[in-house]
Amino acid sequence: MARPTSAPAPRYRCAAPDGRLDSPVFHRNVEPLLAALTPLLEGRSGTAFEIGSGTGQHIAALRRAFPRLVWQASDPDPVHRKSCDAWSPAASPALDIDAASDWPDRPEVAGLAPFALILSLNVVHIAPWSVAIGLVAGAGRALARGGLLALYGPFREDGAHTGPGNAAFDAQLRAQDPASGLRDTADLRWLAEGAGLAFRALVPMPANNRLMLFERTRLAPGTPGA
Ligand SMILES: C[S@@+](CC[C@H](N)C(=O)[O-])C[C@H]1O[C@@H](n2cnc3c(N)ncnc32)[C@H](O)[C@@H]1O
Repeated sequence: MARPTSAPAPRYRCAAPDGRLDSPVFHRNVEPLLAALTPLLEGRSGTAFEIGSGTGQHIAALRRAFPRLVWQASDPDPVHRKSCDAWSPAASPALDIDAASDWPDRPEVAGLAPFALILSLNVVHIAPWSVAIGLVAGAGRALARGGLLALYGPFREDGAHTGPGNAAFDAQLRAQDPASGLRDTADLRWLAEGAGLAFRALVPMPANNRLMLFERTRLAPGTPGA
């Protein structure tokens, strides 16, 4: 797949000379996200791995809210990784991870796994379907048993958009790149089932977004011992 460009996405503003980027959308969705994740993450420990961390503002907020978890950011875009590191200077640097690859095999990932949580916010619709495939398959391999995969963003449900804004956004994405576009929750559930992940919940979020939750309940097919 094409690598993301190293130019800051136009949806982000430069927030400081150290590379920090600011996403206006972050300020609208961070509190609802923290509220939805609180019942799931309270009391959990271990390592939480984020795919496609963007500016790094979400993971910085999550780190503050859930300090018992060790939070690891990642993004294939070097400008975004620099922003992640600038927002969280005490954390280990964001990793260069392409979710469409066999990322659990990367030594820097394998050394942190198995994960208590794998989180990806607003990624699967802006990237080709191969990214969703790699993300979910990788989660099936890299999550601890009982670990959670959380996907957040706009989705289609059984072929239908959840609101007119999402339909327009989908059309805009597909016009820019026909390989991108809103993903259907049924397709993601099908991917997850094949990866050994049980569907747990589809949580309605503001602005017609959803939080999709899966739990690793068994070893993925092809995993040693499965
Ligand atoms: C729309 S932004 C979302 C960023 C952040 N998660 C948020 O919600 O603000 C999508 C992010 O996915 C990253 N991305 C694009 N292709 C990717 C891939 N193949 N694997 C992992 N991340 C990818 C981009 O670099 C970008 O940071």
